[in-house]
Amino acid sequence: MLCHKINPMLELRLLQPADAPALYALIDSDRAHLRVWLPWVDDTRKVADSAKFIAKALRERAETRAFTSGIWSMGRLVGVIRHNRIDWVSKVSFPTYWLASSELGKGIMTQCCQAFYTHAFELLQVNRIVVAVATENKRGQALPLRLGFKLVSTLKKAERLQSGWVDHNIYSLLTPHAPPGSF
Ligand SMILES: CC(C)(COP(=O)(O)OP(=O)(O)OC[C@H]1O[C@@H](n2cnc3c(N)ncnc32)[C@H](O)[C@@H]1OP(=O)(O)O)[C@@H](O)C(=O)NCCC(=O)NCCS
Repeated sequence: MLCHKINPMLELRLLQPADAPALYALIDSDRAHLRVWLPWVDDTRKVADSAKFIAKALRERAETRAFTSGIWSMGRLVGVIRHNRIDWVSKVSFPTYWLASSELGKGIMTQCCQAFYTHAFELLQVNRIVVAVATENKRGQALPLRLGFKLVSTLKKAERLQSGWVDHNIYSLLTPHAPPGSF
């Protein structure tokens, strides 16, 4: 997804090297919120770290291994959504996403996920989207449920965050073209 206007105010766009300072500033100004559920935040210490992330994302895109978009709301970068990994053999995508704390509660990520997943089902032709969310992450849990995902399992001690080990709920969404009873 190079560029997708969700509405006049909200846009998904490929992150470019020139976006590194804005991306770093966004993360740096919101560490307390982001580091609760995102293990990479403490390792992001300078603009060069965000530049490295963007360069890697562009490489992964060129190799069709992963796809990353910045989220712009009213012209300002406010978050990131990405297919962290795509298993092309089994046609499964594993997305992750985050939003600045000032933008929570407005439906921004729900709309971005809808656009991103429609693109994944229709253009990337994946059959399934799988999201892993820490069981205590209430906003994180609400999002897949709002979009029709089914809870398929819970993994104990799935991820080590700054607060310690957390369990993950695993949610799955099948392509709308899947035959009935595919779960
Ligand atoms: C997960 C995360 C993106 C969810 O953010 P969010 O703001 O709750 O999600 P949305 O942007 O979809 O907003 C939903 C809220 O907007 C409201 N809303 C307003 N307009 C809406 C619309 N058009 N569509 C859907 N919801 C809308 C919803 O009712 C909901 O309100 P609530 O907060 O009172 O329940 C955010 O908490 C985050 O970045 N967390 C850190 C990273 C993380 O945990 N990622 C998940 C694991 S990958």
